[in-house]
Amino acid sequence: MAMAAVPKINPTAVVIFGATGDLTQRKIIPAFYHLRLHNRLPEHFAIIGFARRPYSEKEFRILLKQALEDYSHTHPIDLAVWQWLEQKLFYLQGDLANPEDYVKLAHFLETLPDAKFYKGNFLYYLATAPKYFAIVAENLAKAGLNPKAGELENRRLIVEKPFGTDLNSARELNAILQKYFPEKSIFRIDHYLGKETVQNLLYFRFGNSIFEPLWDRKYIDHIQITVAETQTIGSRGEYYDSAGASRDMLQNHLMQLFSLIAMEPPASLEAESIRDEKVKVLKSVPIPSAEEWLRNSVRAQYGPGILGGKTVKAYREEDKVSRKSLTETYVCVKLEVDNWRWSGVPFYLRTGKALAKQFSEICIVFNRPPCVLFANSTKKVARNWLKIRIQPNEGIHLIFNTKVPNQPALEEAKMDFYYRRYGGHYFPEAYERLLLDALAGESTLFTRSDEVEYAWKIIDSLRNAWNEEDCDAIPLYAPGSMGPVEADELLRREGRYWGPPPKEEEDIGDGES
Ligand code: BG6
Repeated sequence: MAMAAVPKINPTAVVIFGATGDLTQRKIIPAFYHLRLHNRLPEHFAIIGFARRPYSEKEFRILLKQALEDYSHTHPIDLAVWQWLEQKLFYLQGDLANPEDYVKLAHFLETLPDAKFYKGNFLYYLATAPKYFAIVAENLAKAGLNPKAGELENRRLIVEKPFGTDLNSARELNAILQKYFPEKSIFRIDHYLGKETVQNLLYFRFGNSIFEPLWDRKYIDHIQITVAETQTIGSRGEYYDSAGASRDMLQNHLMQLFSLIAMEPPASLEAESIRDEKVKVLKSVPIPSAEEWLRNSVRAQYGPGILGGKTVKAYREEDKVSRKSLTETYVCVKLEVDNWRWSGVPFYLRTGKALAKQFSEICIVFNRPPCVLFANSTKKVARNWLKIRIQPNEGIHLIFNTKVPNQPALEEAKMDFYYRRYGGHYFPEAYERLLLDALAGESTLFTRSDEVEYAWKIIDSLRNAWNEEDCDAIPLYAPGSMGPVEADELLRREGRYWGPPPKEEEDIGDGES
Protein backbone atom coordinates (compact mmCIF):
# COMPACT_ATOMS: atom_id res chain seq x y z
CA MET A 1 0.00 0.00 0.00
CA ALA A 2 3.05 2.15 0.15
CA MET A 3 2.81 5.16 -2.15
CA ALA A 4 6.10 4.11 -3.78
CA ALA A 5 5.91 4.37 -7.56
CA VAL A 6 7.29 1.36 -9.35
CA PRO A 7 9.35 -0.83 -7.04
CA LYS A 8 12.83 -1.75 -8.18
CA ILE A 9 13.21 -5.44 -8.81
CA ASN A 10 16.60 -7.12 -8.71
CA PRO A 11 17.39 -10.04 -11.01
CA THR A 12 15.56 -12.96 -9.44
CA ALA A 13 14.90 -16.65 -9.97
CA VAL A 14 11.40 -17.65 -8.91
CA VAL A 15 10.76 -21.27 -7.96
CA ILE A 16 7.14 -22.38 -8.04
CA PHE A 17 6.46 -25.47 -5.96
CA GLY A 18 3.42 -27.31 -7.26
CA ALA A 19 4.00 -25.65 -10.61
CA THR A 20 1.68 -27.80 -12.68
CA GLY A 21 -1.38 -27.00 -10.57
CA ASP A 22 -4.34 -24.77 -11.07
CA LEU A 23 -2.98 -21.70 -9.33
CA THR A 24 0.10 -21.47 -11.55
CA GLN A 25 -2.04 -21.70 -14.63
CA ARG A 26 -4.90 -19.45 -13.60
CA LYS A 27 -3.10 -16.76 -11.65
CA ILE A 28 0.68 -16.90 -11.42
CA ILE A 29 1.65 -17.17 -15.09
CA PRO A 30 -0.91 -14.63 -16.33
CA ALA A 31 0.37 -12.29 -13.60
CA PHE A 32 4.02 -12.64 -14.69
CA TYR A 33 3.00 -12.14 -18.30
CA HIS A 34 1.25 -8.86 -17.45
CA LEU A 35 4.15 -7.71 -15.31
CA ARG A 36 6.43 -8.15 -18.31
CA LEU A 37 3.87 -6.53 -20.60
CA HIS A 38 4.09 -3.46 -18.39
CA ASN A 39 7.87 -3.59 -18.15
CA ARG A 40 7.91 -4.47 -14.48
CA LEU A 41 10.23 -7.49 -14.63
CA PRO A 42 14.02 -7.33 -14.72
CA GLU A 43 15.81 -8.56 -17.82
CA HIS A 44 17.59 -11.27 -15.86
CA PHE A 45 14.76 -13.36 -14.62
CA ALA A 46 13.76 -17.02 -14.43
CA ILE A 47 10.80 -19.09 -13.34
CA ILE A 48 11.51 -22.66 -12.35
CA GLY A 49 8.56 -25.01 -12.13
CA PHE A 50 9.13 -27.71 -9.52
CA ALA A 51 6.56 -30.50 -9.49
CA ARG A 52 6.22 -34.25 -9.60
CA ARG A 53 4.88 -34.73 -13.12
CA PRO A 54 7.44 -35.85 -15.69
CA TYR A 55 7.24 -32.81 -17.97
CA SER A 56 9.97 -31.75 -20.31
CA GLU A 57 10.79 -28.05 -20.45
CA LYS A 58 9.01 -27.90 -23.79
CA GLU A 59 5.86 -29.53 -22.44
CA PHE A 60 5.86 -27.22 -19.44
CA ARG A 61 6.07 -24.19 -21.72
CA ILE A 62 3.25 -25.49 -23.92
CA LEU A 63 1.08 -26.09 -20.85
CA LEU A 64 1.62 -22.54 -19.64
CA LYS A 65 1.09 -20.96 -23.04
CA GLN A 66 -2.32 -22.62 -23.13
CA ALA A 67 -3.01 -21.49 -19.57
CA LEU A 68 -2.20 -17.92 -20.54
CA GLU A 69 -4.56 -18.11 -23.52
CA ASP A 70 -7.29 -19.49 -21.25
CA TYR A 71 -6.91 -17.29 -18.20
CA SER A 72 -5.32 -13.99 -19.23
CA HIS A 73 -7.59 -11.07 -18.42
CA THR A 74 -6.39 -9.24 -21.53
CA HIS A 75 -6.45 -10.45 -25.12
CA PRO A 76 -4.95 -10.95 -27.62
CA ILE A 77 -1.75 -12.28 -26.09
CA ASP A 78 1.26 -10.21 -27.13
CA LEU A 79 3.45 -12.87 -28.71
CA ALA A 80 6.70 -10.97 -28.29
CA VAL A 81 6.04 -10.71 -24.57
CA TRP A 82 5.12 -14.38 -24.34
CA GLN A 83 8.26 -15.36 -26.22
CA TRP A 84 10.35 -13.37 -23.74
CA LEU A 85 8.64 -15.08 -20.81
CA GLU A 86 8.77 -18.50 -22.40
CA GLN A 87 12.58 -18.35 -22.56
CA LYS A 88 12.61 -17.71 -18.84
CA LEU A 89 10.57 -20.81 -17.99
CA PHE A 90 12.35 -23.93 -16.76
CA TYR A 91 11.14 -27.17 -15.28
CA LEU A 92 12.59 -29.47 -12.68
CA GLN A 93 10.85 -32.70 -11.85
CA GLY A 94 10.93 -33.19 -8.11
CA ASP A 95 9.15 -34.64 -5.13
CA LEU A 96 8.20 -32.03 -2.54
CA ALA A 97 8.89 -34.47 0.27
CA ASN A 98 12.30 -35.66 -0.92
CA PRO A 99 15.24 -33.64 0.48
CA GLU A 100 17.52 -34.90 -2.30
CA ASP A 101 15.42 -33.20 -4.92
CA TYR A 102 16.14 -29.88 -3.23
CA VAL A 103 19.86 -30.55 -3.56
CA LYS A 104 19.15 -31.00 -7.28
CA LEU A 105 17.24 -27.73 -7.20
CA ALA A 106 20.21 -25.93 -5.64
CA HIS A 107 22.40 -27.23 -8.45
CA PHE A 108 19.78 -26.34 -11.05
CA LEU A 109 19.68 -22.75 -9.78
CA GLU A 110 23.45 -22.49 -9.96
CA THR A 111 23.49 -23.62 -13.56
CA LEU A 112 20.69 -21.43 -14.95
CA PRO A 113 21.76 -19.40 -17.99
CA ASP A 114 21.70 -16.09 -16.05
CA ALA A 115 22.82 -17.60 -12.73
CA LYS A 116 25.61 -15.12 -12.15
CA PHE A 117 23.12 -12.23 -12.08
CA TYR A 118 20.82 -13.63 -9.41
CA LYS A 119 23.34 -13.49 -6.60
CA GLY A 120 21.18 -15.78 -4.54
CA ASN A 121 17.98 -13.75 -5.05
CA PHE A 122 15.39 -16.48 -4.98
CA LEU A 123 11.66 -16.19 -4.53
CA TYR A 124 9.93 -19.43 -3.57
CA TYR A 125 6.23 -19.71 -4.25
CA LEU A 126 4.38 -22.39 -2.27
CA ALA A 127 1.59 -23.12 -4.72
CA THR A 128 1.15 -26.56 -3.16
CA ALA A 129 -1.43 -28.21 -0.95
CA PRO A 130 -1.12 -26.66 2.54
CA LYS A 131 0.21 -29.89 4.07
CA TYR A 132 3.46 -29.27 2.16
CA PHE A 133 4.10 -25.69 3.32
CA ALA A 134 6.26 -26.70 6.29
CA ILE A 135 7.90 -29.59 4.44
CA VAL A 136 9.08 -27.40 1.58
CA ALA A 137 10.47 -24.75 3.95
CA GLU A 138 12.35 -27.39 5.88
CA ASN A 139 13.73 -29.07 2.77
CA LEU A 140 14.84 -25.75 1.33
CA ALA A 141 16.76 -25.15 4.52
CA LYS A 142 18.35 -28.60 4.43
CA ALA A 143 19.63 -27.86 0.94
CA GLY A 144 20.99 -24.49 2.09
CA LEU A 145 18.44 -22.57 0.05
CA ASN A 146 16.88 -20.58 2.89
CA PRO A 147 18.16 -17.08 3.74
CA LYS A 148 21.75 -16.88 4.88
CA ALA A 149 22.66 -14.89 7.96
CA GLY A 150 23.44 -11.34 6.88
CA GLU A 151 21.50 -11.71 3.64
CA LEU A 152 18.14 -12.02 5.27
CA GLU A 153 16.00 -10.59 2.57
CA ASN A 154 17.11 -12.11 -0.67
CA ARG A 155 15.39 -15.48 -0.27
CA ARG A 156 11.71 -15.01 0.15
CA LEU A 157 8.85 -17.38 0.63
CA ILE A 158 5.33 -16.78 -0.66
CA VAL A 159 2.74 -18.84 1.20
CA GLU A 160 -0.73 -19.32 -0.20
CA LYS A 161 -3.88 -19.59 1.85
CA PRO A 162 -5.25 -21.36 3.82
CA PHE A 163 -2.69 -20.52 6.49
CA GLY A 164 -3.60 -23.15 9.07
CA THR A 165 -7.05 -24.39 9.88
CA ASP A 166 -7.26 -22.90 13.36
CA LEU A 167 -5.13 -20.94 15.81
CA ASN A 168 -3.00 -23.89 16.87
CA SER A 169 -2.17 -25.07 13.38
CA ALA A 170 -1.42 -21.50 12.26
CA ARG A 171 0.90 -21.05 15.25
CA GLU A 172 2.67 -24.31 14.46
CA LEU A 173 3.07 -23.35 10.83
CA ASN A 174 4.36 -19.91 11.76
CA ALA A 175 6.88 -21.49 14.13
CA ILE A 176 8.22 -23.90 11.50
CA LEU A 177 8.43 -21.31 8.72
CA GLN A 178 10.08 -18.80 11.03
CA LYS A 179 12.64 -21.37 12.05
CA TYR A 180 14.04 -21.27 8.52
CA PHE A 181 12.85 -17.93 7.14
CA PRO A 182 12.82 -14.67 9.10
CA GLU A 183 9.37 -13.07 9.31
CA LYS A 184 10.50 -10.30 6.95
CA SER A 185 11.04 -12.83 4.21
CA ILE A 186 7.66 -14.61 4.59
CA PHE A 187 4.87 -13.31 2.35
CA ARG A 188 1.49 -14.77 3.32
CA ILE A 189 -1.00 -14.22 0.53
CA ASP A 190 -4.49 -12.88 0.98
CA HIS A 191 -5.33 -11.96 -2.58
CA TYR A 192 -7.95 -9.45 -1.43
CA LEU A 193 -5.10 -7.18 -0.37
CA GLY A 194 -3.88 -7.10 -3.96
CA LYS A 195 -7.18 -5.74 -5.26
CA GLU A 196 -7.01 -2.10 -6.31
CA THR A 197 -10.16 -1.15 -4.43
CA VAL A 198 -8.97 -2.78 -1.24
CA GLN A 199 -5.75 -0.78 -1.46
CA ASN A 200 -7.91 2.25 -2.09
CA LEU A 201 -9.55 1.86 1.33
CA LEU A 202 -6.51 3.48 2.91
CA TYR A 203 -6.01 6.05 0.19
CA PHE A 204 -9.66 7.03 0.36
CA ARG A 205 -9.81 7.22 4.15
CA PHE A 206 -6.56 9.04 4.74
CA GLY A 207 -6.24 10.95 1.47
CA ASN A 208 -9.41 13.00 2.04
CA SER A 209 -10.21 15.36 4.84
CA ILE A 210 -13.99 15.09 4.53
CA PHE A 211 -14.54 11.46 5.48
CA GLU A 212 -12.06 10.62 8.22
CA PRO A 213 -13.46 13.13 10.75
CA LEU A 214 -16.78 11.28 10.48
CA TRP A 215 -15.20 7.85 10.81
CA ASP A 216 -16.23 6.98 14.36
CA ARG A 217 -19.01 6.18 16.78
CA LYS A 218 -20.22 9.79 16.92
CA TYR A 219 -21.34 9.71 13.29
CA ILE A 220 -21.50 6.07 12.23
CA ASP A 221 -24.40 3.83 13.22
CA HIS A 222 -22.93 0.59 11.91
CA ILE A 223 -20.79 -0.91 9.15
CA GLN A 224 -21.65 -3.79 6.80
CA ILE A 225 -19.14 -5.87 4.88
CA THR A 226 -20.53 -8.21 2.23
CA VAL A 227 -18.70 -10.63 -0.03
CA ALA A 228 -21.44 -12.34 -2.03
CA GLU A 229 -20.73 -15.02 -4.62
CA THR A 230 -23.04 -16.60 -7.14
CA GLN A 231 -20.95 -19.70 -7.70
CA THR A 232 -21.56 -22.90 -5.78
CA ILE A 233 -18.67 -24.90 -4.40
CA GLY A 234 -18.40 -26.78 -7.70
CA SER A 235 -15.67 -29.41 -7.65
CA ARG A 236 -14.06 -28.17 -4.44
CA GLY A 237 -16.21 -30.35 -2.15
CA GLU A 238 -13.34 -32.13 -0.44
CA TYR A 239 -11.58 -28.95 0.63
CA TYR A 240 -14.70 -26.91 1.22
CA ASP A 241 -16.50 -29.39 3.45
CA SER A 242 -13.65 -29.22 5.96
CA ALA A 243 -13.37 -25.43 5.68
CA GLY A 244 -16.74 -23.75 5.27
CA ALA A 245 -17.30 -20.05 4.73
CA SER A 246 -15.87 -19.12 8.14
CA ARG A 247 -12.45 -20.54 7.33
CA ASP A 248 -12.49 -20.08 3.57
CA MET A 249 -13.53 -16.40 3.51
CA LEU A 250 -14.28 -14.87 6.91
CA GLN A 251 -10.96 -15.57 8.64
CA ASN A 252 -8.98 -14.01 5.83
CA HIS A 253 -10.64 -11.83 3.18
CA LEU A 254 -13.43 -10.36 5.32
CA MET A 255 -11.17 -9.88 8.33
CA GLN A 256 -8.77 -7.96 6.10
CA LEU A 257 -11.51 -5.65 4.87
CA PHE A 258 -12.70 -5.25 8.45
CA SER A 259 -9.31 -4.29 9.85
CA LEU A 260 -8.59 -1.85 7.00
CA ILE A 261 -11.89 -0.07 7.45
CA ALA A 262 -11.61 0.10 11.25
CA MET A 263 -7.89 0.78 11.78
CA GLU A 264 -6.43 4.00 13.15
CA PRO A 265 -4.31 6.19 10.85
CA PRO A 266 -0.87 4.56 10.67
CA ALA A 267 2.24 6.53 11.65
CA SER A 268 3.56 6.04 8.11
CA LEU A 269 2.82 4.01 5.02
CA GLU A 270 5.55 1.56 5.93
CA ALA A 271 4.43 -2.06 6.06
CA GLU A 272 4.98 -2.45 9.79
CA SER A 273 3.07 0.72 10.71
CA ILE A 274 0.05 -0.36 8.68
CA ARG A 275 0.16 -3.93 9.91
CA ASP A 276 0.51 -2.78 13.54
CA GLU A 277 -2.71 -0.79 13.22
CA LYS A 278 -4.56 -3.66 11.58
CA VAL A 279 -3.49 -6.01 14.34
CA LYS A 280 -4.70 -3.52 16.97
CA VAL A 281 -8.20 -3.72 15.48
CA LEU A 282 -8.25 -7.52 15.72
CA LYS A 283 -6.94 -7.34 19.28
CA SER A 284 -9.72 -4.92 20.21
CA VAL A 285 -12.48 -7.33 19.24
CA PRO A 286 -13.92 -8.65 22.51
CA ILE A 287 -14.24 -12.40 22.09
CA PRO A 288 -17.94 -13.20 22.53
CA SER A 289 -19.08 -16.02 24.82
CA ALA A 290 -20.61 -19.07 23.12
CA GLU A 291 -24.04 -17.76 23.98
CA GLU A 292 -23.29 -14.34 22.48
CA TRP A 293 -21.91 -15.94 19.36
CA LEU A 294 -25.05 -18.00 18.86
CA ARG A 295 -27.12 -14.84 19.12
CA ASN A 296 -24.81 -12.79 16.92
CA SER A 297 -23.94 -15.18 14.12
CA VAL A 298 -25.79 -17.10 11.44
CA ARG A 299 -24.52 -20.11 9.52
CA ALA A 300 -26.46 -21.72 6.72
CA GLN A 301 -26.19 -23.97 3.67
CA TYR A 302 -27.65 -23.59 0.24
CA GLY A 303 -30.46 -25.99 -0.44
CA PRO A 304 -31.59 -27.20 -3.88
CA GLY A 305 -32.97 -24.69 -6.34
CA ILE A 306 -32.45 -22.68 -9.50
CA LEU A 307 -29.67 -20.18 -9.95
CA GLY A 308 -29.18 -18.17 -13.12
CA GLY A 309 -31.61 -20.49 -14.92
CA LYS A 310 -29.66 -23.61 -13.91
CA THR A 311 -30.60 -26.31 -11.45
CA VAL A 312 -28.42 -26.28 -8.36
CA LYS A 313 -28.01 -29.31 -6.09
CA ALA A 314 -28.27 -28.80 -2.36
CA TYR A 315 -24.86 -28.35 -0.75
CA ARG A 316 -25.20 -31.71 1.00
CA GLU A 317 -25.68 -33.37 -2.40
CA GLU A 318 -22.49 -31.90 -3.89
CA ASP A 319 -19.61 -34.19 -4.82
CA LYS A 320 -17.33 -35.16 -1.92
CA VAL A 321 -19.56 -33.45 0.63
CA SER A 322 -20.94 -35.42 3.56
CA ARG A 323 -24.70 -35.96 3.28
CA LYS A 324 -24.91 -34.98 6.94
CA SER A 325 -22.58 -32.03 6.61
CA LEU A 326 -23.01 -29.09 8.99
CA THR A 327 -20.51 -27.02 7.01
CA GLU A 328 -21.74 -23.52 6.31
CA THR A 329 -21.75 -22.06 2.80
CA TYR A 330 -23.02 -18.79 4.27
CA VAL A 331 -21.89 -17.02 7.39
CA CYS A 332 -22.84 -13.74 8.95
CA VAL A 333 -21.45 -12.33 12.20
CA LYS A 334 -21.75 -9.23 14.27
CA LEU A 335 -18.43 -7.99 15.66
CA GLU A 336 -17.64 -5.14 18.00
CA VAL A 337 -14.42 -3.20 18.35
CA ASP A 338 -13.84 -2.12 21.89
CA ASN A 339 -11.83 1.06 21.50
CA TRP A 340 -12.43 4.83 21.69
CA ARG A 341 -13.30 5.12 18.04
CA TRP A 342 -15.74 2.25 17.68
CA SER A 343 -17.19 1.34 21.05
CA GLY A 344 -20.89 0.55 20.49
CA VAL A 345 -20.71 0.46 16.67
CA PRO A 346 -21.56 -2.99 15.30
CA PHE A 347 -19.76 -4.39 12.28
CA TYR A 348 -21.83 -6.94 10.37
CA LEU A 349 -19.85 -9.25 8.10
CA ARG A 350 -21.45 -11.72 5.70
CA THR A 351 -20.33 -13.98 2.90
CA GLY A 352 -21.88 -16.86 1.05
CA LYS A 353 -21.97 -19.03 -2.06
CA ALA A 354 -24.85 -19.51 -4.51
CA LEU A 355 -26.25 -16.08 -3.73
CA ALA A 356 -28.31 -13.80 -5.95
CA LYS A 357 -25.50 -11.53 -7.04
CA GLN A 358 -21.72 -11.52 -7.25
CA PHE A 359 -20.49 -8.43 -5.41
CA SER A 360 -18.28 -7.28 -2.57
CA GLU A 361 -19.15 -4.08 -0.83
CA ILE A 362 -18.52 -2.16 2.38
CA CYS A 363 -21.37 0.04 3.58
CA ILE A 364 -20.73 2.76 6.11
CA VAL A 365 -24.14 3.62 7.50
CA PHE A 366 -24.31 6.97 9.27
CA ASN A 367 -26.52 8.06 12.15
CA ARG A 368 -29.86 9.62 11.38
CA PRO A 369 -29.84 13.37 11.65
CA PRO A 370 -31.67 14.75 14.68
CA CYS A 371 -35.22 14.91 13.31
CA VAL A 372 -36.67 17.99 14.95
CA LEU A 373 -36.90 19.80 11.64
CA PHE A 374 -38.72 16.98 9.92
CA ALA A 375 -40.79 15.86 12.88
CA ASN A 376 -43.98 16.12 10.87
CA SER A 377 -42.74 13.86 8.15
CA THR A 378 -44.57 10.52 7.96
CA LYS A 379 -41.35 8.62 7.27
CA LYS A 380 -38.17 8.54 9.34
CA VAL A 381 -35.35 10.47 7.70
CA ALA A 382 -33.16 7.93 5.94
CA ARG A 383 -29.61 7.38 7.11
CA ASN A 384 -26.76 8.41 4.82
CA TRP A 385 -24.91 5.47 3.29
CA LEU A 386 -21.41 5.46 1.92
CA LYS A 387 -20.94 2.35 -0.19
CA ILE A 388 -17.50 1.25 -1.23
CA ARG A 389 -17.78 -1.30 -3.99
CA ILE A 390 -14.80 -3.63 -4.02
CA GLN A 391 -15.97 -5.60 -7.07
CA PRO A 392 -17.29 -5.71 -9.74
CA ASN A 393 -17.68 -2.19 -11.12
CA GLU A 394 -15.40 -0.82 -8.48
CA GLY A 395 -16.56 2.50 -7.15
CA ILE A 396 -17.85 4.66 -4.34
CA HIS A 397 -21.46 5.73 -3.88
CA LEU A 398 -22.82 8.27 -1.44
CA ILE A 399 -26.52 8.23 -0.61
CA PHE A 400 -27.96 11.35 0.97
CA ASN A 401 -31.31 13.12 1.39
CA THR A 402 -32.54 15.97 -0.76
CA LYS A 403 -35.76 17.92 -0.98
CA VAL A 404 -38.36 16.66 -3.42
CA PRO A 405 -39.02 19.56 -5.77
CA ASN A 406 -42.32 21.28 -5.13
CA GLN A 407 -43.06 19.21 -2.02
CA PRO A 408 -42.11 19.63 1.63
CA ALA A 409 -40.48 16.20 1.69
CA LEU A 410 -37.12 14.47 1.60
CA GLU A 411 -36.02 11.73 -0.74
CA GLU A 412 -32.80 9.81 -1.22
CA ALA A 413 -30.34 10.81 -3.92
CA LYS A 414 -27.09 9.20 -4.92
CA MET A 415 -23.66 10.34 -6.08
CA ASP A 416 -21.73 7.74 -8.00
CA PHE A 417 -18.07 7.34 -8.71
CA TYR A 418 -16.99 4.50 -11.01
CA TYR A 419 -13.33 3.59 -11.20
CA ARG A 420 -13.68 2.42 -14.78
CA ARG A 421 -14.46 5.92 -15.88
CA TYR A 422 -10.84 6.81 -15.31
CA GLY A 423 -9.93 6.52 -18.96
CA GLY A 424 -6.62 4.99 -19.93
CA HIS A 425 -5.79 3.35 -16.59
CA TYR A 426 -4.72 -0.24 -16.46
CA PHE A 427 -6.32 -2.32 -13.70
CA PRO A 428 -3.89 -5.00 -12.64
CA GLU A 429 -5.14 -8.28 -11.26
CA ALA A 430 -4.47 -8.83 -7.55
CA TYR A 431 -1.72 -11.38 -8.21
CA GLU A 432 0.24 -8.97 -10.39
CA ARG A 433 0.52 -6.49 -7.59
CA LEU A 434 1.28 -9.15 -5.00
CA LEU A 435 4.01 -10.81 -7.06
CA LEU A 436 5.58 -7.47 -7.84
CA ASP A 437 5.65 -6.52 -4.16
CA ALA A 438 7.06 -9.89 -3.11
CA LEU A 439 9.79 -9.52 -5.75
CA ALA A 440 10.56 -6.08 -4.32
CA GLY A 441 10.41 -7.25 -0.68
CA GLU A 442 7.50 -4.92 0.08
CA SER A 443 5.29 -6.67 2.60
CA THR A 444 2.41 -4.25 3.30
CA LEU A 445 -0.03 -6.28 1.22
CA PHE A 446 0.80 -9.55 2.95
CA THR A 447 -0.44 -10.74 6.31
CA ARG A 448 1.90 -10.83 9.27
CA SER A 449 2.08 -13.84 11.59
CA ASP A 450 0.31 -12.12 14.51
CA GLU A 451 -2.43 -10.84 12.20
CA VAL A 452 -3.22 -14.35 11.03
CA GLU A 453 -3.20 -15.65 14.58
CA TYR A 454 -5.52 -12.95 15.98
CA ALA A 455 -7.95 -13.54 13.15
CA TRP A 456 -7.94 -17.26 13.93
CA LYS A 457 -8.56 -16.54 17.59
CA ILE A 458 -11.83 -14.84 16.67
CA ILE A 459 -12.87 -17.52 14.19
CA ASP A 460 -11.94 -20.37 16.53
CA SER A 461 -14.20 -18.99 19.23
CA LEU A 462 -17.05 -18.72 16.72
CA ARG A 463 -16.55 -22.25 15.49
CA ASN A 464 -16.27 -23.59 19.03
CA ALA A 465 -19.62 -22.02 19.83
CA TRP A 466 -21.14 -23.69 16.76
CA ASN A 467 -19.53 -27.02 17.58
CA GLU A 468 -20.98 -27.00 21.06
CA GLU A 469 -24.44 -26.56 19.63
CA ASP A 470 -26.32 -29.82 19.50
CA CYS A 471 -27.92 -29.89 16.04
CA ASP A 472 -28.11 -32.20 13.06
CA ALA A 473 -28.86 -29.53 10.47
CA ILE A 474 -28.26 -25.83 9.95
CA PRO A 475 -30.65 -23.37 8.24
CA LEU A 476 -31.01 -23.63 4.47
CA TYR A 477 -31.31 -20.80 2.00
CA ALA A 478 -32.45 -20.84 -1.58
CA PRO A 479 -29.79 -20.54 -4.28
CA GLY A 480 -30.24 -17.16 -5.92
CA SER A 481 -31.44 -15.52 -2.70
CA MET A 482 -29.36 -13.21 -0.53
CA GLY A 483 -28.97 -15.83 2.19
CA PRO A 484 -31.03 -17.15 5.07
CA VAL A 485 -33.84 -15.16 6.67
CA GLU A 486 -32.01 -15.54 9.99
CA ALA A 487 -29.34 -13.13 8.70
CA ASP A 488 -31.98 -10.52 7.87
CA GLU A 489 -33.48 -11.09 11.28
CA LEU A 490 -30.14 -10.51 13.00
CA LEU A 491 -30.15 -6.92 11.70
CA ARG A 492 -33.89 -6.37 11.84
CA ARG A 493 -34.09 -6.99 15.55
CA GLU A 494 -31.55 -4.18 15.96
CA GLY A 495 -33.56 -1.80 13.77
CA ARG A 496 -31.28 -2.20 10.74
CA TYR A 497 -31.30 -3.93 7.35
CA TRP A 498 -28.76 -5.18 4.85
CA GLY A 499 -27.94 -2.89 1.97
CA PRO A 500 -29.67 -4.37 -1.10
CA PRO A 501 -27.51 -5.96 -3.82
CA PRO A 502 -26.51 -3.51 -6.55
CA LYS A 503 -29.23 -2.81 -9.08
CA GLU A 504 -28.79 -3.39 -12.76
CA GLU A 505 -28.15 0.28 -13.46
CA GLU A 506 -25.23 0.12 -11.03
CA ASP A 507 -23.75 -2.66 -13.08
CA ILE A 508 -22.41 -0.44 -15.76
CA GLY A 509 -18.67 -0.49 -15.79
CA ASP A 510 -17.57 2.14 -18.20
CA GLY A 511 -21.02 3.17 -19.26
CA GLU A 512 -23.16 6.09 -18.28
CA SER A 513 -25.35 6.28 -15.23
C1 BG6 B 1 -10.83 -17.73 -2.35
C2 BG6 B 1 -11.82 -18.71 -1.78
O1 BG6 B 1 -9.84 -17.43 -1.39
O2 BG6 B 1 -11.50 -16.53 -2.70
C3 BG6 B 1 -12.95 -18.98 -2.77
O3 BG6 B 1 -11.15 -19.93 -1.47
C4 BG6 B 1 -13.56 -17.69 -3.23
O4 BG6 B 1 -13.93 -19.83 -2.20
C5 BG6 B 1 -12.50 -16.71 -3.70
O5 BG6 B 1 -14.46 -17.99 -4.30
C6 BG6 B 1 -13.10 -15.34 -3.96
O6 BG6 B 1 -12.14 -14.51 -4.56
P1 BG6 B 1 -12.59 -13.35 -5.56
O7 BG6 B 1 -11.33 -12.63 -5.88
O8 BG6 B 1 -13.21 -14.04 -6.74
O9 BG6 B 1 -13.58 -12.51 -4.82
